[in-house]
Amino acid sequence: LSLFSGSSNIPLAQEVARYLGMDIGPLIRKRFADGELYIQIQESIRGCDVYLIQPCCNPVNDHFMELLIMIDACRRASARQITAVIPYYGYARADRKTAGRESITAKLVANLIVEAGANRVLAMDLHSAQIQGYFDIPFDHIYSTPVLLDYFATKDLSDIVIVSPDVGGVARARAFAKKLDDAPLAIIDKRRQSHNVAEVMNVIGDVKGKTAVLVDDMIDTAGTITEGAKLLREEGARQVYACATHAVFSGPAIERLSSGVLEEVIVTNTIPIPEEAHFPQLTVLSVANLLGEAI
Ligand code: R5P
Repeated sequence: LSLFSGSSNIPLAQEVARYLGMDIGPLIRKRFADGELYIQIQESIRGCDVYLIQPCCNPVNDHFMELLIMIDACRRASARQITAVIPYYGYARADRKTAGRESITAKLVANLIVEAGANRVLAMDLHSAQIQGYFDIPFDHIYSTPVLLDYFATKDLSDIVIVSPDVGGVARARAFAKKLDDAPLAIIDKRRQSHNVAEVMNVIGDVKGKTAVLVDDMIDTAGTITEGAKLLREEGARQVYACATHAVFSGPAIERLSSGVLEEVIVTNTIPIPEEAHFPQLTVLSVANLLGEAI
């Protein structure tokens, strides 16, 4: 078994390697003057089972291209099996056509990963589970729920209500609530006017006097979560926590999340968060052991 890391989240890959008791394999990664990327695997992987860890986070196109080049390099080096470990699957929100003449980019990404030579994919908390079906190769879809639940178990929160920040996330929130002793569920009816602009409408369910925990797959600009938290407070929630697997944190996310509307923001390390972006309410949990176990 050989493990290599792309450049998008080396600390996570190092943690996974530690869990597995192995080293990350050596490779050369260079960028040419025109921006083109060069990768060379620095040891023989002939006949090996190779795992390539590369969350496709911002800058998503660069990280995705790097993953494809790594897969291609491994295939041409006669690896026996290549597993693309993609803790965060970029473009997952482009999983269907919502208007004419759009691309289904999540499917295009799948095609390219397979075409490059991957034999198996390992991903975590996909925005929509049907993305697995875009692949006709083995696909392991794992969830960060165990680490989030372990964390909540230490908090001893009473009178809790799990909240889905939109209708699309109900299945995820319901599964989370079930694991928390069948906690009650509330749903925010969110309407979007355009991409990355969230408009919150109503809360369906009872949150008055309760500790509300918003559960989402990702926090991007944090509009969804913070507008949701404001509404929950207006509806009488005592305190509001947010938890999400993927800390995309783009644009105004940090400013919004640290504005005080949230008691705590709990995310995982599928995407690295630069030191300067940390804020007092932020807790980052590691999914390295889960990935290591799945590998
Ligand atoms: C949407 O369906 C997703 O599950 C997230 O709720 C959304 O992408 C978060 O985006 P933002 O943080 O920019 O509101």
